[in-house]
Amino acid sequence: DASDIEKGTYPHYMLKEIDEQPLVMRKIIQKYQDDNGELTIDQEIVEAMNDADRIYIIAAGTSYHAGLVGKQFIEKIAKIPVEVHISSEFGYNIPLLSEKPLFIFISQSGETADSRAVLVNVKEMGHKALTITNVPGSTLSREADYTLLLHAGPEIAVASTKAYTAQIAVLSILAEVTAKSRGLELNFNLVQELGIVANAMEVLCDAKEDFEDIARKFLSTTRNAFFIGRGIDYYVGLEGALKLKEISYIQAEGFAGGELKHGTIALIENGTPIIALATQESVNLSIRGNVKEVVARGANPCIISMKGLETEEDSFIIPEVNELLTPLISVIPLQLISYFAALHRECDVDKPRNLAKSVTVE
Ligand code: G6P
Repeated sequence: DASDIEKGTYPHYMLKEIDEQPLVMRKIIQKYQDDNGELTIDQEIVEAMNDADRIYIIAAGTSYHAGLVGKQFIEKIAKIPVEVHISSEFGYNIPLLSEKPLFIFISQSGETADSRAVLVNVKEMGHKALTITNVPGSTLSREADYTLLLHAGPEIAVASTKAYTAQIAVLSILAEVTAKSRGLELNFNLVQELGIVANAMEVLCDAKEDFEDIARKFLSTTRNAFFIGRGIDYYVGLEGALKLKEISYIQAEGFAGGELKHGTIALIENGTPIIALATQESVNLSIRGNVKEVVARGANPCIISMKGLETEEDSFIIPEVNELLTPLISVIPLQLISYFAALHRECDVDKPRNLAKSVTVE
C-alpha cells in the first residue's frame, strides 16, 4: 500500500524520520535564507517579537521540550524574557501577564486541543500569537496571527523526532533574526553553525551500530532508566526520557544533575542505567561528579559527551557544534537508543500503545 512506498526500504517510519534530520536542517536553512544568504523572517513577525516585553511559549509533549531549548535562544541571543508553559496547565495557573505579551505556540501537528484551548483564550484577551508548526493550514496556524513553518515533511511515527530538531532550528533562526533587528551583535554565524550541525547529524545517523550496542548493553532488560544533564543538557534529557518511555515502555525520567541528591538518588540500585549528557563545558565537572555519585551506588553509567570534553569512560562522543546548538545533535543518540531499545523489546515502534500522533481532545 501507499504507506509501504513512503517508508521506502526502512523498517519503521521513526528510523526514516531520524535519518531525515540532516536533510531537514539544510531545507530549513534554505527556506529561511534570502537572496543574499542572510537569514530572514516575515517582517511582521520580527516586529511582533520586538514589540513584546515578554514571550510565552505554549506547547505539549516533545514540542514543550523544544520550547525549553527555544527559551535559551530567545533570552541569550535576542534578550527578550521568555516563559515556557505546558498547554494543559496554562489555564489553571494563568501567570500574571506582562503588559505586552507575545504568545508562541509550538505544535508539530497544529491540532493539539490543549494548545488550541490556550490560543482561543489568549486571542479573546486580545493578545498576539505566533504558531510554529509542521502543517500549513492547521488549526493553530489558521487561528494565530502569524505562522512559521518547520519544513520537516510529514512526520508519521507517533514518537516525534525530526519535528523536535526542526522546532529548535526554527527557534534559533527566530532568535537570531530578532537579535539582528535590534542591533545585537552575535559572535557566530548561524547559517554556518547550522550547516555544521547538519554534518554532525549525518555522522550520528551513520553510527547506528554503536547506538544499537548501547541499547543492548544498557536497556534490553531494565525496568527503569534515568537521564541526567545540567543546563541545556537537562532539557535534552527530558526529551530522551520521553522518547524511551513512549516507545519502549521502560520507566524513564529526566533529571537535573543537581537534583539527584534531593531525592532521585534513592532509586539507584545495582545496574540501574544512567544516561548522562555532557556537552556543556561550564558544567562538565559537575555532571561528571554526579556520575561518580550514582556509580558509587551501583548505577550503570552511559555517558554521552562532546568532542573536546570527552574522557575515557564515555560511551559515545558526539562531534563538536556550537554550545547553544548541542540539543540538535545530542538528541539523536537518544532517539536512536530509544528506537533500538524498543526494537529489542519487540515493541511497536511506530504505533506505541495508548498514544496518538495528535491529541485533538482535552
Ligand atoms: C502527542 C504526541 C507527541 C507530541 C504531542 C504534542 O502527545 O504523541 O509526540 O509531542 O502530542 O503534539 P504537537 O503536534 O502539538 O506537537
